[in-house]
Amino acid sequence: MDTTLDIPQTGVTALSTHLAQGLVGHDQLIERLLVALLAGGHLLVEGPPGLAKTRAVKWLSDAVEGSFARIQCTPDLMPSDLTGTPVYHPQSGEFEYVPGPVFNNLVLVDEINRAPPKVQSALLEAMAEHQVTAGNETHALPDPFLVVATQNPIEHDGTFPLPEAQLDRFLLHVMLELPGIETERQILDLVEAEALGGVSPVRSLSQTDLALARAQVQQVHLAPELRDYIVRLVIATREGPLAQDIEHAVSPRGSLSLAAASKARAFLQGRDFAMPEDVAELAGDALAHRMVLSWRAVADGRRARDVVADILNAVEPL
Ligand SMILES: Nc1ncnc2c1ncn2[C@@H]1O[C@H](COP(=O)(O)OP(=O)(O)OP(=O)(O)O)[C@@H](O)[C@H]1O
Ligand SMILES: [Mg+2]
Repeated sequence: MDTTLDIPQTGVTALSTHLAQGLVGHDQLIERLLVALLAGGHLLVEGPPGLAKTRAVKWLSDAVEGSFARIQCTPDLMPSDLTGTPVYHPQSGEFEYVPGPVFNNLVLVDEINRAPPKVQSALLEAMAEHQVTAGNETHALPDPFLVVATQNPIEHDGTFPLPEAQLDRFLLHVMLELPGIETERQILDLVEAEALGGVSPVRSLSQTDLALARAQVQQVHLAPELRDYIVRLVIATREGPLAQDIEHAVSPRGSLSLAAASKARAFLQGRDFAMPEDVAELAGDALAHRMVLSWRAVADGRRARDVVADILNAVEPL
């Protein structure tokens, strides 16, 4: 393997170990957070309350050099509460743009489905374009720019489900589940130990190392056969026997996301080439939120993740 992989990889490995110490049983979430960070995509995290979603992003923000903001969404939020506002200065007779909380490297958007549609679309536009347009001025967002949005599946009253077209803006959609007995016990022990003052030291990944790591991720080799595999998975959502459960199939953004995420996962595994297991491991989180099932499939109790699982079983990797 190329020796230039070493420097950023060490930093990223240390970061991963550090996060694992603070987030019990959340290996998948940690991997997905790092994949999003390295691939330059955004993450949607869904799960019931109290599963350390906020904690995960706080820990990440403490450990990676850069600015951080948290936005708690409510139904009365306005787009400018996120993106910023031009403020008039009477002395000079000019407007000055005061940037909102999206102008940070890491932005935690808690309970995104409580924000009204106008706010959601302003945010998702900023995520896709890496810029905010106010009046006739455009303001570039910082780099790196990572949005982690959370949503709570058990609440429906007073929420605005994200439109399918906008869900597509997230690189990965992670679903969290309640922990088992052993994990639950470890969480109790950890949080109690922390309360007694045993907080582990923060290990920081510098912006320079992050930029190096991102450059390395881009260099990760994705063999032509693997590209074909990704494309065949995505095409299986559009035609063939499994596509009949799908009303809206995965767009090319799905293939691009799965490719980018697979390369980042390969890097995290210490490889400079991606493998079918990278693609298969991330396919559910990268594709399921980009499709809409037919009403019949929904009535049968099928979920998009089940369809992706079936597609993975049906499509040969190589
Ligand atoms: N897997 C875990 N590892 C470490 N701590 C955990 C874990 N799960 C829960 N906790 C603890 O549970 C508490 C709740 O965490 P947190 O506030 O981050 O949850 P949340 O998912 O953001 O909840 P909400 O959806 O209500 O905002 C924290 O004290 C956190 O330390
Ligand atoms: Mg929270």
